[in-house]
Amino acid sequence: MKKDLFKKFASVAAISSMFVMLAGCNSSLLNETEVEGAERPIIVQGPMPIEAEEFAKKLDKVKVEKSGTFVFYKGKINNYPVIVAKTGKGMENSAAATALAIEKYKPIAIINQGTSGGHNPELNVFDIVLGERTTNIGSLKTTNMDEGQGMDPTTWIPMDLMASEGSGSDDSANKVRYYEGDQELLEAANAVKDTYTKGKVVEGTIGSADFWNSEVDRINWIHEKYGTDVEEMEGASVAQIADAYDVPFLGIRILSNNKTNGGTYNPGTAAANQDYVYEVVKEYISMIKNK
Ligand code: 5AD
Repeated sequence: MKKDLFKKFASVAAISSMFVMLAGCNSSLLNETEVEGAERPIIVQGPMPIEAEEFAKKLDKVKVEKSGTFVFYKGKINNYPVIVAKTGKGMENSAAATALAIEKYKPIAIINQGTSGGHNPELNVFDIVLGERTTNIGSLKTTNMDEGQGMDPTTWIPMDLMASEGSGSDDSANKVRYYEGDQELLEAANAVKDTYTKGKVVEGTIGSADFWNSEVDRINWIHEKYGTDVEEMEGASVAQIADAYDVPFLGIRILSNNKTNGGTYNPGTAAANQDYVYEVVKEYISMIKNK
C-alpha cells in the first residue's frame, strides 16, 4: 500500500518536473501563447517628452514599464490595449525602441508621431502629414574626390542600405528606398481628418535622418531628390524595423517649423498632433473591432 502511494507520488512528481523543464526551455513559446489569447496592442511612439506624455495622459489604467532609456506607458483606449512609447530622439533610439517593443508586446500596428520641419512651402506650421511614404534622407554615397578637391553635397547619391546584403558598392544600391504607410492606418487617419481644425491634413512623404536642416538650398535639394514634404529624425528607422517584422506602420507628423516659408518653431504643435493621433487610434480600434 505504502509502496503504491510512493509510486504514484513519484510519477506525478516526474510529470510535473517535465512540465517545469519544458516551460523553462521555451519561454518564448509561453510568451506567444500568452499573447495569442489577448488583443495585440497598438503602439504610439513619440520621441520627446512633449511628444509622448500628452498621449500617455489619455490612456486608461496606465502601467509604466522602463527598459534602458525607453519608457512604455501601457494602458487602454475604449478598452483596447494601447502602449505609448517615449523613444528618445533620433534614428538609433527609435529603431531600438521599435525592435524591443515588437519583441516584448507583439503589436498589431505602430504609429510614429511627432513634430517635423517643412520641406514643402505649401505646408504651414500646424499642418499634418500622413506618411504615405517614409524614407531615410541621411543614407548617401559621395562621389570620388581626391585631397584638395573639396566636397560637394549636391552631387551625393541616395543609398539604399537594404538593396542587398553585400557592400552596396554597385549601382543597384544607388536609389531611394521608400516605406509605404499601411493602408488601413491611412484609412483610419483619413476618416477622422475633419476632426482636426488647426491646419490641413495631407498625405505625403516623410524624410528622416539625424540632422536638422536650416539651409534652404539643401532642403530644396532633398525635396527634389526624395519628394519629401517634411523632415524629422525617427520615422524611417521605425518603418525599416516594422517592415523587417512585417508590422503595419504609419508616420504622422505635424509641422512645428518650416524654413521654406518662414514658419517659425512652435512647440505647441506637439500636443495638437497627439490630439489628432488620439482620434486616429480610436478610429483604428473601431475598425479592428468591426472586422
Ligand atoms: N528637422 C529635424 N527634426 C525635426 N523635428 C522637428 N523639426 C525638425 C526639423 N526641422 C523633430 C525630430 C526630433 C526633434 C528634434 O524634433 O523628429 O525628434
